[in-house]
Formats: sequence, structure tokens, C-alpha cells
Amino acid sequence: MPNNPRHILVTSALPYANGSIHLGHLVEYIQTDIWVRYQKMQGNQAIYVCADDAHGTPIMLRAQAEGITPEELIARTSEEHQADFAGFAIGFDNFHSTHSDENRELATLIYNRLKAGGHIHKRTIKQAYDPEKQMFLPDRFIKGECPRCGAQDQYGDSCEVCGATYSPTELKNAVSVISGAKPVEKESEHYFFALGDFEKEIREWTAAGHIQPAIANKLDEWFDAGLQDWDISRDAPYFGFEIPDAPGKYFYVWLDAPIGYMASFKNLCARREDLDFDTYWKPDSDAEVYHFIGKDIAYFHTLFWPAMLSGAGFRKPTAVYCHGFLTVNGQKMSKSRGTFITARTYLDNLNPEYLRYYYAAKLGDGIDDIDLNL
Ligand code: MSP
Ligand code: ZN
Repeated sequence: MPNNPRHILVTSALPYANGSIHLGHLVEYIQTDIWVRYQKMQGNQAIYVCADDAHGTPIMLRAQAEGITPEELIARTSEEHQADFAGFAIGFDNFHSTHSDENRELATLIYNRLKAGGHIHKRTIKQAYDPEKQMFLPDRFIKGECPRCGAQDQYGDSCEVCGATYSPTELKNAVSVISGAKPVEKESEHYFFALGDFEKEIREWTAAGHIQPAIANKLDEWFDAGLQDWDISRDAPYFGFEIPDAPGKYFYVWLDAPIGYMASFKNLCARREDLDFDTYWKPDSDAEVYHFIGKDIAYFHTLFWPAMLSGAGFRKPTAVYCHGFLTVNGQKMSKSRGTFITARTYLDNLNPEYLRYYYAAKLGDGIDDIDLNL
């Protein structure tokens, strides 16, 4: 029997704090907002939370390039994002930040519980390192020639010309995008989350109707390929939370990003007497938790996230709903074609209700891309 009224917590993915909201993002926020409004009109307690995703190397480097602190950058972006969302009538009950006290506390708690459960391992790995800038380089910060087809100017993880995937050490004539220096290999100790410990539980969860059939099929491929340990640490310099017992090591941005959903809700609970954090997040909760996301981040939300929650003694999501990508005039949004349209540009020129209606009319429960044909 459904409890009436139902208690429903809803999230949209947390936008990165180093870029503007664009029409592609809005597919998700408009879809979620409509769903939440429906639930509220039904008389359910539906709470819609979001936040900016404020950590990671790109945000650190962007702040450096602008000559400001990461804190200044994320404060400015938060205002801009919230004004954009308000312009499209997205009715968040709370909009918070992953760079917050609540998130630091919850990330630390979850990490400590996973560690106590024996699910965190240490291992030394080799990675590309920029000897000039003196930092390890994420794949996206290395460019060179594709080892398969020879195309110039390709990123360290994959070739946009022939589709090959590889490790940055295989790139020919590789350079650091930050300094132009030739990357060297360097060893460092990393912390890993043993995802495989949760394989049986996550397989059962994914088979029990919590995700769309297309995503469940994709997950079967990942299960068949075998679940690898997940690298959850990054070395300084990094903008994020330092790992409690590991000075100079930081939580990888994707470790604390989904915890930001809980942190935003916790921040709201402190202001709202009718809301109780544990009622929603305890393992046997009757409350429901729904995440709306794009299909590009399904891996994080349907494997890592339920495993982390379970390992830390919290409930798993009721459902994760994926949507497809927005194309404009049948193609990927592109600055050079003039089809990369920010929320602000749209608001300066057109009525937001038109876009809400257009997306509502086109979206369904599938993960197909939707096209905005101008
Ligand atoms: N910060 C991560 C999410 C962390 S959630 C714990 C991230 N941010 S993002 O800004 O790149 O994307 C935010 C959401 O917008 C994601 O769900 C993503 O799939 C969605 N979209 C971004 N571009 C999109 C389109 N062109 N079309 C539809 N959705 C798109 O990922
Ligand atoms: Zn190639």
C-alpha cells in the first residue's frame, strides 16, 4: 500500500561550477521540475534539491586563470546559475553547494564507514605528471596524436576522429594542455573503493525495476566486463575535501558530488521543521528518493552511488531516471555553428514557457536524444 501522502525527495544532477547553464542542461531541470510539480499537486510531500558541483581540477584551473580564488568563482557561478534557473521557473526547494560544511561532514562519514567496512584499499599507481606545473594531469589535460590513426590534437583518453580509446601514455608527442610541457610518468599512492564487494547487491537492485530497461542493459555490459576498483583520491594541488587520514590527498570530485544531494537536503532540513534527514535516508525508509540525470553519468549513479550508500548504511535510490541528450538542428550543440545557446541568451530573447512546453511535448520515459529544431 502506498503511504498517503508520499514522502518524495527528488534531485537533478549538480551542474559544474565552472560553466554557464545551457539549453542542454535545461532538458533535465525542466523535466524534473514538471515531475516535482505533478507530485506536489497530488498532495505528496515532494522536495526538490540541487546544488553546484564545485570541486575538481577544471574549477581550480579556471579560478587560477581568472586570478580569483575557487571560492570566489563558485560564489559567482552559484548566483548566475540560480538566476538562470529562476528565469525558467525551476522550483528548487533548495540549491546548495558541494563545497559546504554539510557535504564535508557527510563525505567524511561515508568514507569512514566504507573504510571501517573494509571497502577502501590503497595502491601505488603511475600517472602522467606535468613537471612544470608540478601536478598530475587528468586525461582531458593531455593532448597529442592518436596512436591508432595519427590524428593531431586529441585528448589523453580517446580520439574524436577514429573513436579509439587508450591511456595517455600511448599518445604520440603528448603535451600538457596547462603548460605545454611533455608529461612524465610519476608514481603516487591512491585510495580505491572496492566496487566489486557490492556486485551481488547492485545486480539485484538494477534487476528490480529501479532503472530504465535501456540502462539495465548497459549495466549488464559493465557487469560482464567485471567491476573494477574505483580510484577515489587525487593528489594536491586539487580543489576539494582533503581525505581525513591522508594529508595531501583529496576526495575525487565524483566521490563527494552525489553526496551533495544529501548535503543539500540536510541543509534544507535545518530550516524546515517538517523535514527529518534520517527519515529519508535510513536503510528501511518508506520515503522515496529519485535522481534525474543524463545518460552520460549513469555509471556513477547506478553503480558507484548505490554501492557507496549501501556500504555506508544508507538507503539506495528508489529510481534513477535517465534522459537523452539535446541536439540543435540535428547536431551536437556547437559554438561555431551558433547553436550553443546559454540559458541567459535564451531568456534575453524568448519566453521560457515556450521551451518548457517544447521539452515537455518531446520528452518521454526513454533515453533517446531530443532535437531542438530552430
Ligand atoms: N557535475 C556533474 C554531475 C554530478 S551529479 C552528482 C555533471 N555536470 S554537468 O554540468 O556536466 O551536467 C549536468 C547535467 O546536465 C547532467 O545530467 C548532464 O547529463 C546534463 N546535460 C549536459 N549537457 C546536456 C545536453 N546537451 N543534453 C541533455 N542533458 C545534458 O555532469
Ligand atoms: Zn584516432
